Amino acid sequence: METMAPDVLISEEDIALRVEALGKAITEEYQGQEVTVICVLKGAFMFCSDLIKKINLPVKLDFVALSSYGDGTASSGTVKMELDLAESIKDKNVIIVEDIVDTGLSMKTLVQLLEARGPKTLKVASLLYKPSKTKHSVSIDYMGFEIEDKFVIGYGLDYAGRYRELPYIGVLNAGN
Ligand code: PRP
Repeated sequence: METMAPDVLISEEDIALRVEALGKAITEEYQGQEVTVICVLKGAFMFCSDLIKKINLPVKLDFVALSSYGDGTASSGTVKMELDLAESIKDKNVIIVEDIVDTGLSMKTLVQLLEARGPKTLKVASLLYKPSKTKHSVSIDYMGFEIEDKFVIGYGLDYAGRYRELPYIGVLNAGN
């Protein structure tokens, strides 16, 4: 087994503080209402899990999984929904929860798909945002951190299926 020692880009403590602030903002915005949180698998599972604990409202949770088909190295293709929601979002207050908006293609596609289903409101929460990579404009209502164009792992994000379990956002260095 290889040893791994990614550099820490965003610490567990900093993530927790930011997630708490986002949960508070959502709680204040939807006072007295129910929200339907949609976790975009797989990458958003950890962020979503922590975020909903900080939303002090009735929360319904549902899941989607997306896959993008490109040339293998860039997400330049189309995005397909591999797993659809279990329940209708018609007239619901929907918040999509993502780990990262990179080119923006996944989120733009998902927003269009879900808008067509008639939610009462539709907002986007993303832990990370890479403005330098964004090609498709996406409005992020609840954003954790803007980051530089580095390949990030941990806290749900993977490299070749690994590192999702790390409690922080890290960057792989040459030794890894
Ligand atoms: C990642 C991430 C977003 C998407 C962002 O998913 O979770 O869904 O890429 O990229 P984009 O803005 O360029 O579309 P990935 O395909 O790696 O799947 P995973 O969440 O299952 O790891």
